[in-house]
Amino acid sequence: MTKAHSANAGNEERVRRIAETATHLGGRETLRRVEMVDRRRGPAGEDVGNVVEMEHVNLTVPDQGMATLFYISGLGGTRDPYLMVGTENMWVNIGEQQFHLPTQVAQVIHGHVGLVVSDLAALIQRLGDVQDRLAGTSFQWEAEDGLVKVTCPWGNQFRCYASSQGSGGMTAGISYVEFLVRPGTADGIKEFYRRVLRAPASMVRDENGTAARVLVGRGQALIFRETAEVLRPYDGHHIAVYVADFSGPYRALKRRGLITEEFANHQFRFQDIVNPKTGEKLFQLEHEVRSMRHPMYRRNLVNRDPALSLGSYVRGRDAFAP
Ligand SMILES: [Fe+2]
Repeated sequence: MTKAHSANAGNEERVRRIAETATHLGGRETLRRVEMVDRRRGPAGEDVGNVVEMEHVNLTVPDQGMATLFYISGLGGTRDPYLMVGTENMWVNIGEQQFHLPTQVAQVIHGHVGLVVSDLAALIQRLGDVQDRLAGTSFQWEAEDGLVKVTCPWGNQFRCYASSQGSGGMTAGISYVEFLVRPGTADGIKEFYRRVLRAPASMVRDENGTAARVLVGRGQALIFRETAEVLRPYDGHHIAVYVADFSGPYRALKRRGLITEEFANHQFRFQDIVNPKTGEKLFQLEHEVRSMRHPMYRRNLVNRDPALSLGSYVRGRDAFAP
């Protein structure tokens, strides 16, 4: 089941059959990709590290109507009802995380975002429902063993996994973001996160090559995978993380001249990831770094149950508990 379904290839019967099959998808792939606790490390495998949560991924979008179709109707997210409720920006809640989608020329991550969803079959059904309305864009999706690969209308790629024991207790949310990086840079990136952000980080060598894996929460990671592909120039997309030790990373980045937005309102920003020994620039990714005193830390994010419809409505079951 690897055939891609573009917006022009709508077929209700095929979507129904794929959705039925997805209810029987195996969990092997899910566990391998999303597993966040290394049981071989014993008690040390329980350590979360200094980055306690990756809260949002910020990707500008040129069209809020299309973004609503993709992120809300398709992926099943919930529009934040309290903040950014106009057409200049939309915050989309998925579990305890968010996508921030300000209106601008599209930003695209060279890599992909790993999502945990409550029901893969329901996701497939929703993607089938929106595909005709996203015709003529980059939108497409395909179901494989244990995951659904989705491309947004502007080219961002998502891999969606069912909730499992390996997803750190996450039933819906942003589990990881994988960035493609230059050959020979992953080890330096790993050291940067260990020494500067004080996050647990390790090297992964698998059938997909070499990568640095950085823990950024209970069930969350950043993955930096080396590729021979020509990398797309960095376009300013960003992530937001909360850290327990705030001043340590701040001082380490300040000393290296890497702070891009000075400390204010419980946060600062940096963009360059450097080799901590040599100072060589290895990768660019803006980080919005927040302290746990930030008023939005562990904000209660509203999640609807995306399975609810006019036909299936059950009184009092509007909310989904992530
Ligand atoms: Fe942000």
